[in-house]
Formats: sequence, C-alpha cells, structure tokens
Amino acid sequence: MKSVIYYFTGTGNNLQVAKKIAEALPDCKLVSMGKGEHDSNEVYDYIGFVYPTYALNLPRKVTQFIKEMSLEKSKNAYFFAVTGCGNISGVAMYKMNERNPEKYQIATDNIPALVQKIVAKTQQPVGKVNEPLNISTAIGQKLIYARKDKGFNVSDACTGCRTCEAVCPVSNIVMKNKKPSFKHNCEQCMACVQWCPKQAINYKNKTQSRGRYTNPSISLKELIDGNK
Ligand SMILES: Cc1cc2nc3c(=O)[nH]c(=O)nc-3n(C[C@H](O)[C@H](O)[C@H](O)COP(=O)(O)O)c2cc1C
Repeated sequence: MKSVIYYFTGTGNNLQVAKKIAEALPDCKLVSMGKGEHDSNEVYDYIGFVYPTYALNLPRKVTQFIKEMSLEKSKNAYFFAVTGCGNISGVAMYKMNERNPEKYQIATDNIPALVQKIVAKTQQPVGKVNEPLNISTAIGQKLIYARKDKGFNVSDACTGCRTCEAVCPVSNIVMKNKKPSFKHNCEQCMACVQWCPKQAINYKNKTQSRGRYTNPSISLKELIDGNK
C-alpha cells in the first residue's frame, strides 16, 4: 500500500497537518505542490491534498496542480482534502492575531480526530456551493493574484541571507546584488515575509510594526527541504 500527500504551505501550518496525517498512512510521501510533481505511473491507495484557504478558495497553485494531474493509475485511491484557514473572514492575512497561540493549540488538538477519519477512509459528501459564494470567491481570488508581488519591499535590515529565496515554494525570489528580487509569479503565501529572520520584507507600509508568525512545530530547515 502506498500513499502520497500533496501539500502547499507558507507559514508551515498545512505542513504540520500533512506530516501528522502522513505518519498514520501506509508508506506515505509528502510532496510540495509548489515545485513537486504527481507521479502518474505510481498506484496509490491514499491521495491527499493539504493546503491553506485563500479568499475562501484554493490557492491558485493548488488548483493548477490538481488540474494537471493524471489519475488513471490511482483512480481507485481514497482521495481526501484538508484546508487550513485563519478565521473564514479572508481579510486577516497581514494582521498578526494575538489569539495565534490559542488557535494553534485548537488546531493541533483537532489533528488526531482528523487523522483517524482519513485512515478509516471516511466518506464525506461534497457539499454544493451556492452560486453567489462561488462568484464572490472567484472575484476574491482574482483580487489576491492581481496585486502580484508589487507591494513587497526590502528594508536595509536585509543581510542577503537568502532565506526568502529558499522558503518561497514557487521560486519567485532570486537574489540580485545580494537582495531579494521578485519575479512576479507570487502565490501570496507570505513565506518570505514571515520567515525572514530580520523582518526585512514587508508588504507596502502595512507590516513593519506587526509581528511575524511561523508554525511552532515546523522548522525552517524542514520547510526549505520540502521545497527542494
Ligand atoms: C493570501 C491569503 C488569503 C487568505 N484567505 C483566507 C480566507 O479567506 N479565510 C481564512 O479563514 N483564512 C485565510 N487566510 C489564512 C490562511 O488560510 C491561514 O493562515 C493558513 O493557516 C495558512 O497556512 P500555511 O501556514 O500552511 O501557509 C489567507 C491567507 C493568505 C496568505
């Protein structure tokens, strides 16, 4: 029996969940949807997708990844999807919430029950999404990606350590004159902003005085290794 979990993450929340599920599944590998690929020759028994909610929707990269998958060999697999979210409002992305530790704990406490459901191949009917919601999330998604990476700036605190380049799941950052330069194919995951050890990357003038968040159970090294 073989399993695979395709994940997408910026701050590590969804990697935390993906890792916990992977531990419980037979012969499970973790593949980032940023740079990884689906092996269409492999026969899987479990295929999972774990990714953040962006504007009440899937991240663009995740939609792309799934659309391009050829599932002929694994059509009898148990498929599951798990999406992490902030608070459903869809507007809190640049604000650090003082409830973060509490939310992290609630989410972490919920993982074992989720894992059990998946291991048991629980069937859950897919709900019908109503049309107004569909339209508004489609607009929200367009707005997120329309801003590309134009709002990011790099302060003098940058030491050229290249952390941002390594944490970007889609290779959107390259170093130019020892400073990060953005290639306009940003997925908006905020990994560069959140993982920069000097808090040197900001969005316009909105994040300078705000805290930063990365998932406490995910190390910088494992996030970077997953991107390779
Ligand atoms: C561009 C963007 C859009 C988001 N939209 C939503 C949203 O609509 N609803 C919500 O509850 N959380 C939203 N969030 C919060 C993320 O879903 C949440 O922080 C998630 O845990 C991040 O996962 P990660 O750590 O794996 O990157 C958004 C975050 C970003 C960066």
